[in-house]
Amino acid sequence: MNIRKNVIHAAVLTMAMAASASVSAATVEVLHWWTSGGEAHSVAELKKLLESQGDTWKDVAVAGGGGDNASTVLKSRIVSGSLPTAAQIKGPSIQEWGEQGVLADLSDTAKAGNWDALLPPVVSNVMKYRGKYVAVPVNVHRVNWMWVNPAAFKKAGVEIPKTWDEFPAAADKLQKAGITPVAHGGQPWQDFTLFESIVLGIGGPEFYQKAFVKLDQPSLKSTTMEKAFDTLRMVRRYIDKDAANRDWNLATATIINGKAAMQFMGDWAKGEFTAAGKVPGKDYLCLPALGTDNAFTFNIDSLVMFKQSSTDGKKAIKDLSTAVMSPQFQEVFNLNKGSIPARLDVSLAKFDDCAKRASEDFVATSKSGTLVPSAAHKMAMSEAISGGMQDVVTQFFNSPSMTSKAASEGLAAAARNNY
Ligand code: GAL
Repeated sequence: MNIRKNVIHAAVLTMAMAASASVSAATVEVLHWWTSGGEAHSVAELKKLLESQGDTWKDVAVAGGGGDNASTVLKSRIVSGSLPTAAQIKGPSIQEWGEQGVLADLSDTAKAGNWDALLPPVVSNVMKYRGKYVAVPVNVHRVNWMWVNPAAFKKAGVEIPKTWDEFPAAADKLQKAGITPVAHGGQPWQDFTLFESIVLGIGGPEFYQKAFVKLDQPSLKSTTMEKAFDTLRMVRRYIDKDAANRDWNLATATIINGKAAMQFMGDWAKGEFTAAGKVPGKDYLCLPALGTDNAFTFNIDSLVMFKQSSTDGKKAIKDLSTAVMSPQFQEVFNLNKGSIPARLDVSLAKFDDCAKRASEDFVATSKSGTLVPSAAHKMAMSEAISGGMQDVVTQFFNSPSMTSKAASEGLAAAARNNY
């Protein structure tokens, strides 16, 4: 993480000294990257809930899908000694922050709220550092989706492809009909998001686990991985020329307005369809990314709480943790966000068919062993390794002369070097 421990200790001390003695309403400051239309609606619900309890909401929204910008801002705030109450941090990074000694121990709130019984272990394990809760889950996102505009396929007179082999013929027809086959934004995290779904579809969940979780060198350098890169290059042909640096939600907008036909993106994309008043099954379809029907790549959003020494700060983390875990919040946030509640006991009565399918598949794949962490969304490996792999994927995506073999070797080197 490149942050020296003594800097952090100094920061925590400064915060403690600056804190006031006792206040009745707490100020809850949250750093996150939920800035698209659907995401902003979701965060507004959290703000509303806390304000209804008398707390003050201080929003630190850092634009940039996938959170790379937010991560940079958070690190700079540590150095300047001004940590927020909580920040959107996910997956193995929580352990890295735990090692810095800056995270709050939420054990009392977790015990009182019975979190261990309410959360599936695949979620609760991620929220704990050395066996103690330090983070609260807001949702479970599924990444391996393909968002489809069925009217675009109808216009082109072609069936929606069911496999990667069927894909080029269908995409050619879409292109001939003046429709962009694949909606995409050329940003490293989006390239990696598309690529991980291709790897899952081409190699299957066991291969995916070996490559991205176990970081198995032979798998990373295998011909299967090369085939996944070949497929990425093929898909690249069907992305429009203005894709460079386009935000993901603007790519989703081209599915909504029918300019494009398919987007490979996690179900935060559904938040955009919902915000635009679109109905799944009619205006758009949510289908598992090609070849990934029986697998589920999970991406759990969580708010990590920082140690507080003031009464106000302690109240802030307690109020925020309790609010986030409440069934009321888990329902309304996820209705807007496109994800499913992290708590398994929340009713899905108000949720659409995509969410219901995600929930069923989440449970089924956790039993069949085909529930896998998203590599692109930093659930599978350390930030350093996933950053290295992301660089390789993006380099390949943007360099026509780079071979699939060289790219596979690049992934293996990223896993080895931990740079
Ligand atoms: C993911 C995050 C989602 C969504 C997406 C786009 O990493 O988990 O909640 O925000 O990035 O920014």
